[in-house]
Amino acid sequence: MTTQKTSIRELKSQQEDSVDITQLRVPIKVDLTPIYEFLGSRTSQVWVDTALANLPLIIQDHANCEKKAAGTAMNLIFRYEFSYELQCKLAQLIREEMLHYEQVLGIMNERGQDWEYLSAGRYAKGMLKQKRTHEPAAMIDVLIIGAFIEARSCERFAALAAEINDTRLAKYYRYLLKSESRHFEDYLALAQSLSEDSIDERVAFFKGIESELITSPDSELRFHSGMPA
Ligand SMILES: [Fe+2]
Ligand SMILES: [Fe+2]
Repeated sequence: MTTQKTSIRELKSQQEDSVDITQLRVPIKVDLTPIYEFLGSRTSQVWVDTALANLPLIIQDHANCEKKAAGTAMNLIFRYEFSYELQCKLAQLIREEMLHYEQVLGIMNERGQDWEYLSAGRYAKGMLKQKRTHEPAAMIDVLIIGAFIEARSCERFAALAAEINDTRLAKYYRYLLKSESRHFEDYLALAQSLSEDSIDERVAFFKGIESELITSPDSELRFHSGMPA
C-alpha cells in the first residue's frame, strides 16, 4: 500500500521562518475548539492568577519547555528513522521549537531577567510513567503524550494572553497558538499513523491522566502545573 507523502514544499509552506516578534500583528485567528475538545479540563482562574503573579518563573519555565520540546523531538528523530513522514514533521518541529526558545531567551534578555535553574515539574513525568514499554506501543504513547503537552501549552497561552497586563507578551502568546496547535495535530496524526487500530482508547486514557495532573493540587508552580496548592 502506498500512502501519500507530504512534500517538502508543502511542509515549507507551513513552517515559520525567523520571525521578528516585535512586529507581530494581532489578533492571530486560531480556532481553539479542537484543543478544548481534546483536553479533559480547562485551566483554572486560580492557576492563571498565580502564574501572572509569578511571571518571571513562568517565563523561565516556558524557556525550559521550548528547549525540552525540541530535545524530545530530537530523541524521536534518532530512534525512529524508518518513517519519512515522522522524520519530516519532527525536523520541522525541532526547528520551530528552537525558534521559540530563541524568542523566549530574547524576551528574558529584554526584561533583564537572568537565567535561573528551575527543576522540571511533575507534569510530563506523570504521563511518561504510564507509557507502555514495547514497540510500537511505546512510540505511540510518546506521540500521544506529545499531543497533550502541545494542546495544554496552547490552552495555557490562550488563557494567559486573555488576562496578561503586558501587550508584548499577550501578542507573543497569541502568536504561539498557531504553531503549538499544529504541533498537537501533528503528534496525534503521527501516533495514529503508526497503529492499524484506533488509538482512541489510549488517547482517552492519557486524557484522564493529564486532566488529573492539571486539576489536582500541586505544590510547585510551573507552566504545566496543577491547581496551585
Ligand atoms: Fe514551542
Ligand atoms: Fe510545540
